[in-house]
Amino acid sequence: MKEKLVVAVLGLQMGRRHLFAAKEYGAEIGAICDIDTQKLAKYKEEYQLSDEQCYTDWKEVLKRDDINVVVIATPDQLHREEVEACLAAGKHVLCEKPLALTREDICAIVKAANASDKKCMVGQVSRFHTAFVKLKELVDSGIIGDIYYMETEYAHDYATILKPWDPACEHDMDKKISMWRSDPQRHGVVGGGCHAVDLLRWFCGDPTEVMAYGTHKMLPQVSYDDTTVAILNFPNGIIGKVFVSTGCKRPYTRMTSIYGTKGTLVCDSTKGEIKVYTVGEDGVRVNETPEIVTVEVKDHNAVAEFVKFAQHIENDEVVEMDADLGARTVEVCLSIVRSSEIGKPVSPNYQFT
Ligand SMILES: NC(=O)c1ccc[n+]([C@@H]2O[C@H](COP(=O)([O-])OP(=O)(O)OC[C@H]3O[C@@H](n4cnc5c(N)ncnc54)[C@H](O)[C@@H]3O)[C@@H](O)[C@H]2O)c1
Repeated sequence: MKEKLVVAVLGLQMGRRHLFAAKEYGAEIGAICDIDTQKLAKYKEEYQLSDEQCYTDWKEVLKRDDINVVVIATPDQLHREEVEACLAAGKHVLCEKPLALTREDICAIVKAANASDKKCMVGQVSRFHTAFVKLKELVDSGIIGDIYYMETEYAHDYATILKPWDPACEHDMDKKISMWRSDPQRHGVVGGGCHAVDLLRWFCGDPTEVMAYGTHKMLPQVSYDDTTVAILNFPNGIIGKVFVSTGCKRPYTRMTSIYGTKGTLVCDSTKGEIKVYTVGEDGVRVNETPEIVTVEVKDHNAVAEFVKFAQHIENDEVVEMDADLGARTVEVCLSIVRSSEIGKPVSPNYQFT
């Protein structure tokens, strides 16, 4: 018999999408948790929950035996402790990206996930973005031949959402969490850029070496670079490039191009449009007018993500987007940051245990 899913969601900003997704899937909402009592009240009413189902302390949620699934959508700095505790309490876990912010924390999470018989999935949601799913289908169909170059980006202006970082917060977790996006450990390449890096990894594999340059002209409130460009060297003769800007003066965009031996795909994910360039009858010259493939845009496709997670639990499947996958993406991001700091290429270390 299928395991009945009783879900708790920790953190209700991004978590509101997971709440919706779990309900949409038909799971039972067992509990919600947020330190912001106004948010708690809002979603208590929206999902018609009782006082006993609403928590400000996530550790109390784990004491509930009826809850078997926890979705973690709290600030990145909390992910490690929460994932470890959830798994130790016998809950299946869907943890928002990035898995964590430091090498020490990703290694600890991978170890905890390996030691547990519960499912642990990371929410690298680009793999459910409708335009990127279509891109993957096109590449896998062979229409552009073998990939030799891919470029993508994460360009998202954080100017209005970042609070000036106060170094005095470093050792005070509560204060740190109140300004968690400005924490120097939450470099833009790891925090948001992990979406673009994960997309590259999905199509091209694990880079063996990265070389990056950063600059810092846009976000005076943080100490880390607001803009980074990295070149990634993949096996099988593939080169990648990623552009991450958390201070750019343009609307959110994730333009992505994939170059193959028989054609090229140019994707504007925010419009849901893919231009498909292929070679003509002579097998050499490219057709100048591309075929246009369009899809309905679903950027934060939490519903599809939850469906996959639920199926893994219900069918007792191996988790595709497991802790190791999340750790690899963070490791590449950390290598990019390190390379930009030392001005030399860096080889990611994919050994986490
Ligand atoms: N997949 C995506 O595209 C995507 C988009 C945005 C954010 N995220 C990730 O989701 C997570 C949350 O991001 P966000 O944008 O919702 O951040 P946010 O700061 O807007 O909201 C975080 C929520 O968590 C609550 N919170 C903070 N500390 C808590 C604690 N100890 N216990 C319970 N609740 C607590 C806050 O009150 C707030 O409601 C982060 O890991 C972030 O990287 C993912």
